[in-house]
Amino acid sequence: MTKLVIEGGRPLQGDVRISGAKNAALPILAASLLATQPVALQNVPRLQDVATMIELIGGMGALITRNGDLTIDCSQLNRYEAPYELVRSMRASILVLGPLLARFGQAVVSFPGGCAIGSRPVDLHIKGMELLGAEIRVENGNIYASRKNRLKGTTIAFETVTVTGTENVMMAAVLAEGQTIIKHAAQEPEVVDLANFLIALGAKIQGAGTDTIVIDGVSDLTGGNYRVMPDRIEAGTFLAAAAATKGTITLHDISPAIMQTVLAKFRETGAVIVEQENSILFDMQGKRPNAIDVVTSPYPGFPTDMQAQFIAVNSVANGEANVTETIFENRFMHVQELQRMGAQIRLQGNTAIVTGIDKLHGAPVTATDLRASACLIVAGLAAEGVTHVERIHHLDRGYERIEEKLQQLGASIKREN
Ligand code: UD1
Repeated sequence: MTKLVIEGGRPLQGDVRISGAKNAALPILAASLLATQPVALQNVPRLQDVATMIELIGGMGALITRNGDLTIDCSQLNRYEAPYELVRSMRASILVLGPLLARFGQAVVSFPGGCAIGSRPVDLHIKGMELLGAEIRVENGNIYASRKNRLKGTTIAFETVTVTGTENVMMAAVLAEGQTIIKHAAQEPEVVDLANFLIALGAKIQGAGTDTIVIDGVSDLTGGNYRVMPDRIEAGTFLAAAAATKGTITLHDISPAIMQTVLAKFRETGAVIVEQENSILFDMQGKRPNAIDVVTSPYPGFPTDMQAQFIAVNSVANGEANVTETIFENRFMHVQELQRMGAQIRLQGNTAIVTGIDKLHGAPVTATDLRASACLIVAGLAAEGVTHVERIHHLDRGYERIEEKLQQLGASIKREN
């Protein structure tokens, strides 16, 4: 099985370019199903999850080419189904539900099961579609959605903030009759990016990025051109690796504006950070990071997708810190693996209490999910000795060429079979 072999202990140094955001590219690809004319996308990262979404919409009859830009032509679809094999490998497949239902009046999406980080239901997606007038049956492991008439605008107040739930409802509502108001909407920058893409195709959306989104339905969407936003989680992962290795790096093609909460936390670790329009200079000045408390919450709070990497940083920090996870109920699978490397971590409910030590030691460890993989790489880069990270297919779902990028920054990391 493929694994990553890391020889730790070298401070990261140098420059790295941040790729397009996975969590923006996936909903934007799903939203292409709404377009009656071709769509050209730039800055789509080459990732396993993106390949899965392309396979999913390609299986519905979309014509997709990639020569630099990714061009998607959904003018002639003939299947409206997301099968189990694809949904099983990527929960974000649920994002096709809203677009298929809105444009074609029918959709069959295999029911996403639990996953490594918790049960992750899709009840709020389903409720949103029903409020817009869809009929939904859940049978034989599938969600069957249909509508007799055009979807009808309404007010949908989410009881829990959900990122893909907000995106799914927004995509369905752009073709609904009349106005839809989404209250308690997710405010993530990726929701804003999706809204901007839909607006570029002719949708009428206001308020994306706030907790209330107002959508005035239109009869159809045309094609268009769009550049996917940068990946703030990839950027944060490189900063975590620089913090843990006492490094000095510059991130390019990333807007600091979308990373303010995370940058504030890194400043607490003692890092000197200079924000420029499209880049971030990060310098630990050769010092060990200070331990810092973190509580995850929806944007603009601290992202759950950076929680694991901050536990890795705290593991080699000065002092003790509490890291509390409030979004997913089982997102501490990386803790056991870090303990194998000598990390001093106690779990108390949804809080990890981390006592920083001077040095972790290399060990064979197993990645359990995407961000846990990133956490183990950060730990391996900081550790003394050699770390083998197994089950890295999780990593390939969400990081583009991570070992090449880390090599550019001076890390000793290679892929082995
Ligand atoms: C998205 C991101 C993921 C990130 C997460 C939280 C994508 C493709 N994935 O996932 O990387 O970790 O946001 O920032 O963008 N919930 C329900 N019912 C639902 C939907 C969600 O109870 O129908 C709950 C979830 O179990 C969770 C919380 O709401 O406790 C937030 O989850 P949600 O924002 O929906 O996560 P995703 O959109 O799946």
